[in-house]
Amino acid sequence: MWRRSKHACLRATQFAKLLFSPHLADSSYLHISTGLHLPALLSADVQSTCDAGESTGIRIVSGVYMNWKRPLNQQFWKHWQRGLATSPGATKVFRDPRFAKLEESDVQHFQEIVGDKGVIVDSSELEVANTDWMNKYHGQSQLLLRPQTTQQVAEILKFCNSRCLAVVPQGGNTGLVGGSVPVFDEIILNLGAMKSILSFDEVSGILVCEAGCILENLDTFVGTKGFTMPLDLGAKGSCQIGGNVSTNAGGLRLLRYGSLHGNVLGLEVVLANGTVVDMLGTLRKDNTGYDLKQLFIGGEGTLGVVTKVSILTPPKLASTNVAFLACEDYESCQNALKEAKKQLGEILSAFEFIDRPALDMALCHLEGTRDPLPSKHNFYLLVETTGSNEAHDKEKLDAFLEAGMELGYFVDGTVAQDSTQAGSFWEIREGISEALVKAGAVYKYDLSVPIKSFYRIVEDLRAQLGNAAVVVAYGHLGDGNVHLNVSAPKYDEQLLAKIEPFVYEWTAACKGSVSAEHGLGFMKPHALHYSKSEEAIHLMEGFKKLLDPKGILNPYKVLPACAATSTCFVSV
Ligand code: FAD
Ligand code: MLT
Ligand code: ZN
Repeated sequence: MWRRSKHACLRATQFAKLLFSPHLADSSYLHISTGLHLPALLSADVQSTCDAGESTGIRIVSGVYMNWKRPLNQQFWKHWQRGLATSPGATKVFRDPRFAKLEESDVQHFQEIVGDKGVIVDSSELEVANTDWMNKYHGQSQLLLRPQTTQQVAEILKFCNSRCLAVVPQGGNTGLVGGSVPVFDEIILNLGAMKSILSFDEVSGILVCEAGCILENLDTFVGTKGFTMPLDLGAKGSCQIGGNVSTNAGGLRLLRYGSLHGNVLGLEVVLANGTVVDMLGTLRKDNTGYDLKQLFIGGEGTLGVVTKVSILTPPKLASTNVAFLACEDYESCQNALKEAKKQLGEILSAFEFIDRPALDMALCHLEGTRDPLPSKHNFYLLVETTGSNEAHDKEKLDAFLEAGMELGYFVDGTVAQDSTQAGSFWEIREGISEALVKAGAVYKYDLSVPIKSFYRIVEDLRAQLGNAAVVVAYGHLGDGNVHLNVSAPKYDEQLLAKIEPFVYEWTAACKGSVSAEHGLGFMKPHALHYSKSEEAIHLMEGFKKLLDPKGILNPYKVLPACAATSTCFVSV
């Protein structure tokens, strides 16, 4: 599929010339993020080469997929290798030379702002902070800062902005798209030391806290007051509320409580230039103009650093039931969802999907897990209810199970007899991500698709890959969010070329989203256009320019233009 845009760029033309010049050397496989420069690359020459169908050489990832044989220019190749970020399966970019390199005097200045304790240069601590949860993305930052107050965050950013030092905001570093780690030498700004609970209203359930609070700790705290957090995810023991807000995390309870765009009532945010923006309201209703906080919910640290959060928490309900059900075909899973909505109504709190290969992945790699059912089936559903009246909830659940069995939607199933057994069902579902990391390399796709297409993409990708890799699927069926994962012994460009853009084109064709809940991070800026129009991307770029004119906040992430700025090619 060829796409053209109005934004052409001279430098890209130079780049294209160089690429095709006659001083030729290597013909290795490259993966180039071209962002807005792409159109200029689509010269007649390039296009006809591609149209002629010559075989592999270069892949240009910004809405186009190109293969050709033509070898690359030696000078280009050298330049390329010097400044290239090389995360497997990700867009590869040059370090933006506009960003200053860290100097000793900068470190001294940061010591004055946050004290010795807040300045980390120890290599083992840096290695952890430079590496993402999947061990897939690796940065080379030489400095980790741990501010304790909003004022310190503001002073850090003001200084970084004046020096043009790039910064990666980091929470619990559990993100799954490479957004939380540096691409090159960006300074890591970790919010973990800002972990105070500031207030809790026991009537409304409104919690105000600092961004570095760990989600599970918040859930425990509000639990003592009879409330629960409106979101829950497998990473709850490490992820921070600031990270949850910045990724607009969905998770296991979205079906019941809705997204953070509704539950977050207010934010305090520090902009790239150090300006503190107080939007920390605690009101359910506030129509005084534009709802600016929404820009930072899901902003992935590219527009500002979230320092405080005000969030609405629902009451913790006394009665919980968890059922683990088996279905033989996907049609039955869909029917079961319809039936659950009808029969369980307001007490339905989760409706999760696991296919057999995903269950096998968990059983094989997670110690202590066992198949909850005696025989194997193709699909599983984890259905949870939470309500305030045990007898009433039980009655509803029984009616749902009976109807589902009678109609042939489930062929087997079990209801947890106590919280330990319920926990063991959840361990399987929540542990699949970890199992996949243990199994080797994993290509993760987090898609929103119409529920009827939820499993078709899995089958089509299996057909596309054949025996090259194992495709496993799980996800939040109730929300139409499929987690499509490809597991292989190691990362491999040829395998990736079979997966992308296939998965993204498939998703776009059914008007889905290429990122339902994990965000775009470093993995997917080049895929943004599959889910957003050119005009919408242009507006996003406008917000980025307005709020962070020097582009110091989380560069190379989210926006294709940031993944490949014009300066990327400046010295070619
Ligand atoms: P990080 O990973 O540190 O950062 C994520 C992004 O937010 C980065 O771009 C970072 O720059 C930015 N950021 C972090 N803190 C701030 C801040 N204070 N201000 C500005 N920007 C900031 N996600 C879901 O949506 N649903 C799930 O069900 C789910 N399950 C998961 C299960 C597991 C086992 C794992 C490992 C991850 C899961 N995730 C899930 C991914 C998810 O995005 C995160 O776990 C979580 O929301 C990220 O929070 P964090 O504090 O770890 O942020
Ligand atoms: C989940 O629902 O388990 C998460 O979003 C993590 C993943 O996709 O692996
Ligand atoms: Zn998920």
